[in-house]
Amino acid sequence: MEFSHIPVLLNECLEGLAIDPTGTYLDGTAGGGGHSSEIAKRLTTGRLVSLDQDPDAIEAAGKALQGLPATLVKTNFCNARSALQGLGIYQINGALLDLGVSSHQLDDASRGFSYRADAPLDMRMSQSGPTAADLVNTASREELARILREYGEEPYAWAIAGKIVQRREQEPFATTLQLADTIASALPPAVRRKDKNPSRRSFQALRIAVNSELDVLSQGMEEIFDMLAPGGRFAIITFHSLEDRLVKNKFRQWATACTCPPEYPVCVCGGKAKGTLITRKPIEATAEELEYNRRSRSAKLRVIEKN
Ligand SMILES: C[S@@+](CC[C@H](N)C(=O)[O-])C[C@H]1O[C@@H](n2cnc3c(N)ncnc32)[C@H](O)[C@@H]1O
Repeated sequence: MEFSHIPVLLNECLEGLAIDPTGTYLDGTAGGGGHSSEIAKRLTTGRLVSLDQDPDAIEAAGKALQGLPATLVKTNFCNARSALQGLGIYQINGALLDLGVSSHQLDDASRGFSYRADAPLDMRMSQSGPTAADLVNTASREELARILREYGEEPYAWAIAGKIVQRREQEPFATTLQLADTIASALPPAVRRKDKNPSRRSFQALRIAVNSELDVLSQGMEEIFDMLAPGGRFAIITFHSLEDRLVKNKFRQWATACTCPPEYPVCVCGGKAKGTLITRKPIEATAEELEYNRRSRSAKLRVIEKN
């Protein structure tokens, strides 16, 4: 299958990273290599390391990066430090994360990310470990409801979790459409009629859980920020409010000098800010980009510079 993915907020990322042609850069989410190749093209004696946990993405990015000063590593970006150190790199001048799934992963029905096409209920970016089917067939109603509520902000989480548990007693879930039908059957008819994609929130929630996306993001941000040289930039594109909140709060924490509890009348920690916010408000796609790239609709870019 051809890998088609238009890089989101490309110019804004390149500008945010303020690329030094002699520097060392990390792209933690290579995907189809769209951002990676544009970064690598701007390097002279510099070098790019691109990571992705999906073997299909590594293959596609490999093609896009041919002849460019870039090295690909198949790993999760929460292992960024050991991936870089394995290449003899102990400091980087900038890093990018373009989170979530690629258009390719969504469009390839066999990956099981989409509720629009019937396919095995998989959703694993790395193509290893427990699948979404394993999760919905084994988790308790309470756990499923928590996942749907926390990661999908699904108002009918408890009802949907109940239907899932009921249905799997007759036959375990194997496909995306079995799950989509079960989700729809748990919703009040008026909601079902009004909401064009009643499975959207639940599918997002299960994908986040299957790939431990929020834990991985927290750990990855710390590892990557640690590796940045002073003056190095860290740019992150998020696609939903849970991710964006994590990034916003972490960037704010790094950009805050004092870490004393708010009730202290004066600062006793003498803390220094670790970073400076380059974007106070997130950058979003322009009207022009929205026209040709649907994926940019919910994208938010935040950038911080290490002090
Ligand atoms: C939105 S796409 C990136 C697209 C890329 N920027 C481009 O222009 O082609 C996200 C990619 O990141 C990968 N990914 C998501 N989370 C990851 C993680 N924790 N570690 C490594 N790769 C991850 C996915 O497999 C997917 O290929």
